[in-house]
Amino acid sequence: MENLISLVNKIQRACTALGDHGDESALPTLWDSLPAIAVVGGQSSGKSSVLESIVGKDFLPRGAGIVTRRPLVLQLHRIHEGKEYAEFMHLPKKRFTDFAAVRQEISDETDRETGRSKQISSVPIHLSIYSPNVVNLTLIDLPGLTKVAIEGQSETIVQDIENMVRSYIEKPNCIILAISPANQDLATSDAIKIAREVDPKGDRTFGVLTKIDLMDQGTDAVDILEGKAYKLQFPWIGVVNRSQADINKSVDMIAARRREREYFQNSPEYSHLARRMGSEHLGKVLSKHLETVIKSRIPGLQSLINKTILELETELSRLGKPIATDAGGKLYTTMEICRAFDQNFKEHLDGVRAGGEK
Ligand code: GDP
Ligand code: NA
Ligand code: MG
Repeated sequence: MENLISLVNKIQRACTALGDHGDESALPTLWDSLPAIAVVGGQSSGKSSVLESIVGKDFLPRGAGIVTRRPLVLQLHRIHEGKEYAEFMHLPKKRFTDFAAVRQEISDETDRETGRSKQISSVPIHLSIYSPNVVNLTLIDLPGLTKVAIEGQSETIVQDIENMVRSYIEKPNCIILAISPANQDLATSDAIKIAREVDPKGDRTFGVLTKIDLMDQGTDAVDILEGKAYKLQFPWIGVVNRSQADINKSVDMIAARRREREYFQNSPEYSHLARRMGSEHLGKVLSKHLETVIKSRIPGLQSLINKTILELETELSRLGKPIATDAGGKLYTTMEICRAFDQNFKEHLDGVRAGGEK
């Protein structure tokens, strides 16, 4: 199954690389039908922090205020050996092994598009991380929903952000991580509000409760986490991310995860729920869910892939000698990937028919 997810990742990358080329092709449709996971929530609710802990690496700009100003499409690729590294689509030849430099590049690339203002842009940044320590996932970090424009922002920013977020999460293939801080009233959660709007049945929404450590003395989130209040189709998952003080002190991810685990195990309110709390658990739940989704989509994806192969073949024969041109070369590569994908589906289905999961 792992292979299927990584093939989906490859196709997503191929589609994006081809984005500049033919709009007439079937690829945008293909892209739209592949599953991904997006984080939504109010500003500073902890979206970037949650993504970082799922990945298990420090690499995202985080902090108070509007830090995430462009969508970040993040593909995690599990590799079985070698040192982990990151690559940006806008810098195809450069391998980053220093994740502080990755954070700097996200921030610089954001500024290149928006200027060093507080403006936002809907043009995504594409980043791939290759690591033995990740599960294969595509994750999307999004700017936070706000209620009012601040100085230096256009009047339309509140609506612009909402529209941008909606454009990602309204796709039926998008799994929504609705991030809500536990120290605010859930009744006012922007994340839940917009998630309900695009996914009324809650089939693809996971509620994540952040900042549990910051709740007022004498209050706790037990009712929510036990599913007695604000029930969603999937159980809420509580997390404790690093505080701003931790970030300033450069508390590392391993220490942060250990502390998060201890937090749930050692608090009398939450110890009975500890098994299904925390960032590590969230990562596992998501990976498993993604597999289920992909499995259920195999037949649909397969016919789409076949249609794409046909269209690419037509396009290639129209171009003549394909490999000679850049566009032709890209088309050819994509077609090869589609063929591999198709083959993999077939093997997977054969495996299922033969009665064995692979
Ligand atoms: P985003 O704007 O939603 O992406 O939020 P960030 O991930 O940038 O986090 C905003 C601020 O909240 C940062 O200073 C984080 O350190 C802090 N923060 C996020 N989650 C938690 C949490 O679970 N506990 C604590 N104490 N602080 C958190
Ligand atoms: Na923020
Ligand atoms: Mg952010």
